[in-house]
Amino acid sequence: RKVIFSAIQPSGTITLGNYLGALKNWIELQDEYECIYALADLHTITVRQEPAKFRRNTLEAYALLLACGIDPQESPFFIQSQVPEHAQLAWVLNCYTQFGELQRMTQFKDKSQKHPDNINAGLFTYPSLMAADILLYQADLVPVGVDQKQHIELTRNIADRFNGLYGQTFKLPEGYIPETGAKIMSLQDPARKMSKSDENVNSSIAVLDRPEDIMRKFKRAVTDSEACVRRAPGKDGVNNLMGIYSCVTGRTDEEIEAEFAGKGYGDFKTTVGEAVAEHLRPIREKFDDYMKNKDYLEQCYAEGARKAEVIARKTLRKVMKKVGFLQ
Ligand code: TYM
Repeated sequence: RKVIFSAIQPSGTITLGNYLGALKNWIELQDEYECIYALADLHTITVRQEPAKFRRNTLEAYALLLACGIDPQESPFFIQSQVPEHAQLAWVLNCYTQFGELQRMTQFKDKSQKHPDNINAGLFTYPSLMAADILLYQADLVPVGVDQKQHIELTRNIADRFNGLYGQTFKLPEGYIPETGAKIMSLQDPARKMSKSDENVNSSIAVLDRPEDIMRKFKRAVTDSEACVRRAPGKDGVNNLMGIYSCVTGRTDEEIEAEFAGKGYGDFKTTVGEAVAEHLRPIREKFDDYMKNKDYLEQCYAEGARKAEVIARKTLRKVMKKVGFLQ
């Protein structure tokens, strides 16, 4: 069976973009593949975190992903910092990653522009830690949104370089990027992607938003002046809403265009908002249940780390031996 690995940062609000671009696929892939999932909390400290809030965000993210449908019995689901092999392999891979390669990463360029007062070395070497995450599990496929594509390409390059020097060690992973949903845009500025860190609360939907907030945000979503629901270049707002609607209902563009023929944007936005609220409702309910049972959560992530470490340790040993560390 093919191996799937992916991770998400527990850096505050998990958005509809995270859900439709990645998490929804994580859940669906569980039936067919061997899946391993993680909260990438080591990545999160590349941006300064308040300790108590960081701890709470991590626990909430864990509960939320269970609520989305990760089955921890089937798919080891762990917290990155609890499996030390990630940091260990990342160091080794750092020594096989070129400065120039990291410098070309668009996420590094964006983030260092956004946080000019804290362009730390971790932010720079973020992609080699991500490469370690993926390569430790010999993953075939990595379900992510479009914004992580460049990091997966770099992962392949690092793996290929290491294999070239020392013989077959790492499987070369491929991104698994959905056709619709890979890049959900901001509801307020549909030229930019929906992001956890957006200051404007109306621009992004959190998976845990209340239905009335979801409705308000969709009703205020920026569209255009044509008043016709159809997919076309330049209609970024409408295209985005059609994509979201398609993801939660499974309908095609043609079906959506037919459904709203002759109707205005008001109807369209209300229908999309209702469909999203309805889709997310059971997740929010399950999240509340999981948060009432902290002992269960703790037991789950401890068990996940144990299962993950068995696999990770094997790969790390092999790497250390090949490089020439005294055994
Ligand atoms: P993160 O935490 O920023 O995002 C988690 C997942 O959500 C996707 N995503 C989106 N998809 C569609 N539309 C959007 N607007 C949108 N915003 C975010 C991301 O592509 C991602 O799949 N570096 C990663 C975490 C990570 C990782 C890994 C991923 C660490 N190690 C190993 C895969 C494999 C990140 O920061 O994702």
